[in-house]
Amino acid sequence: MLPAAELHVHLEGTLEPELLVALAARNGVALPTTDVEQWRARYVFGDLQAFLDIYYANLAVLRTPQDFADLATAYLDRARAAGLLRVEAFFDPQVHLDNGVGLDVVFEGFGAAFDAARARGLSCDLILCFLRDRGADAAEEVLRAAMPFREQFIGVGLDSAEVGHPPAPFARVFAAAAAEGLHRVAHAGEEGGPEYVRDALDLLGVERIDHGIRAMEDPELVRRLVDEQVPLTVCPLSNVALRAVPELAAHPLPAMLDAGLRFTVNSDDPAYFGGYVEANIAAVRSLGLDETALRTLARNSIDAAFVPHEQKSAWRSVLDASELPST
Ligand code: HPA
Ligand code: ZN
Repeated sequence: MLPAAELHVHLEGTLEPELLVALAARNGVALPTTDVEQWRARYVFGDLQAFLDIYYANLAVLRTPQDFADLATAYLDRARAAGLLRVEAFFDPQVHLDNGVGLDVVFEGFGAAFDAARARGLSCDLILCFLRDRGADAAEEVLRAAMPFREQFIGVGLDSAEVGHPPAPFARVFAAAAAEGLHRVAHAGEEGGPEYVRDALDLLGVERIDHGIRAMEDPELVRRLVDEQVPLTVCPLSNVALRAVPELAAHPLPAMLDAGLRFTVNSDDPAYFGGYVEANIAAVRSLGLDETALRTLARNSIDAAFVPHEQKSAWRSVLDASELPST
C-alpha cells in the first residue's frame, strides 16, 4: 500500500484470537473455547451491538501492563510492516476500569509499546474514547481520572452503541477536553443518521468524524462537509461486517469520492472484521478506484493527522515519491 496514516483503529479491536487465548491462559481467565478457529467462526455480527457484546467480553483477559503492551506492540509492529507513517489509535478505558484494571496499568502498558514503536520510527499516539452508552457523567469522570496521564494521549473520541446515544449530552465533556488542549473526534453516522454527524460538529466541535457514511443521505450535510473539508475516517470492511452496508459492492465510498468528501481508509477493529488497513485498501481497490483516487485517500490521511504542518509536508513528499504496489 501507499504510505499513509491510520486514524481509526481501536487497540482493543486488534486483539487476535491467538493473543486472546494466550492472555487468558497467562491470567487464569476461563474462556468458552481456546480454539482460535472457533473464535474466528463466532465473529459474525448482525449489527454493531452484537459485535460490541463480544468485543467487551473478550477484554476481561487484559489484566497487567504487560498484557496491554503485548496487545499494542502486536498492532504497532504490523502497522510498521505495512508501511504506515502514522497511527492514531483509540482505546476504551471505561471497559478496563469496570474489569478492575486501573488507568495506571492501561497507560503503563500502552505507553511502553508506543514509546518502543516511536523509537523504531513509527509516529503514533493515543486517543481516549468515551463509551457513549455509559452517559456523559461517566465520561466526565474518566476524563478527570485520566488527567494525571495527560501527556500520554492527544485527544478524545466517542464510541460504542450509537443509536439512542446522540452527541448532545457530551458537549460539556468535549468542551473540557478542548480546554485541556486535547483533539476531539467522534463516531457518528455509522449506524446513526446524518443528524448525529451534524451534532458532533456543532455541539462537540469535533475535528474529524469517525465513519460518517450516513451523511450521504443528506445532500445539504454533504455540501457542508465538502465546503469545510471535514475529514471522515471510513472503515469499509467494518461497514460490511456490521451490516452498515449490505455488501462491499454497495458501499457509498465511490460516491463519497465523487462528491468531493475528504475521507480516509481505516481498519476499525481488524481482528474482528477481516483485516488490517492494507486489506481495507485492497477492498477499496476492488471497488474500481484508480491510482489517482488511492493517492488522494493516502494524502487525505496525512492531511487529517494530528501532527504539525511541517511533518505533513515531509510525509506528502514521501507519498509523492512512492510507487503504487501492483496489489
Ligand atoms: N463502532 C463504535 N464503537 C466501537 C467500534 C465501532 O466500530 N469498535 C469499538 N468500539
Ligand atoms: Zn470505530
